[in-house]
Amino acid sequence: MTAPLIAFDGRTVVVTGAAKGIGRAIAMRFLQCGARVVIADSDEGGLDTAKRLAEREGHARVHFIRCDVSKRSEIEALVDGTARHFGAVDVLVNNAGIFPRADLLQTDEAFWDNVLGINLKGAYLLCQAVVPAMMERGGGVIVNIGSNHAAAGEPATMAYAVSKGGIVTLTKNLAKALAKHNIRVNCVQPGWVASEGEVARWKANGMDEEQIAALSARVQTGEDIADAVVFLASGMSKQIIGQVLVVDGGASVGRVQ
Ligand SMILES: NC(=O)c1ccc[n+]([C@@H]2O[C@H](COP(=O)([O-])OP(=O)(O)OC[C@H]3O[C@@H](n4cnc5c(N)ncnc54)[C@H](O)[C@@H]3O)[C@@H](O)[C@H]2O)c1
Repeated sequence: MTAPLIAFDGRTVVVTGAAKGIGRAIAMRFLQCGARVVIADSDEGGLDTAKRLAEREGHARVHFIRCDVSKRSEIEALVDGTARHFGAVDVLVNNAGIFPRADLLQTDEAFWDNVLGINLKGAYLLCQAVVPAMMERGGGVIVNIGSNHAAAGEPATMAYAVSKGGIVTLTKNLAKALAKHNIRVNCVQPGWVASEGEVARWKANGMDEEQIAALSARVQTGEDIADAVVFLASGMSKQIIGQVLVVDGGASVGRVQ
């Protein structure tokens, strides 16, 4: 029988922000491809997510570790805990993120520090924590989750947009620096995804269930993003380094969703 083109059997994958939303879909796809997956999230709900994914996929290749990605000590505990449970990290997916709204004049320092601390510093700290073992082991893969807000100029997401612009820069900088160590770094840029976080925002803005269902049907799913992440983590993309893969259903080329 021919081996599947995308398989992660025996590989250890860490997905941050995987208690729900896009991260959970990414964790599920990796499990479906045979990986051992650590769900890293600041929300204890990640434990329940891990249990449900294990039941659904019928195995125990999934483990939850509570971790606030903006805190170095918790990241160190995540990497140590992953090593003890499954082994060294082969694939890191920097997905954890928050997207609160505020324009320049509404953004105080605490707001800025919180958004940048989670969305950008978290990715830097995680890369720094996993890369030494990847170098020792002869390679690895990092996939960062960006956003079209990086270049969209949306006033109400000023700090968020800056954090996601930083994610693109971090991706390209590390991609060049780490390629010689056989560590590939890329970015997936989702367009608009009906994740739990996004749907909660729609509800807070007054949308009813019918409107939410209609909009959800027009935008991307977490699985759409997960498929791109799994591709960039697989050997099928081994010549793709330092790139931003846009998954937006054509919105960036003018398709109206
Ligand atoms: N939903 C969209 O339309 C969209 C579009 C572009 C990019 N993105 C990006 O995709 C990623 C996932 O977003 P989502 O829509 O699934 O959001 P979500 O709110 O549904 O899920 C985000 C997850 O991240 C976790 N998280 C938050 N802060 C954390 C921290 N400090 N440490 C660890 N985990 C933390 C949350 O607990 C949650 O489980 C984010 O980086 C977001 O910016 C989302």
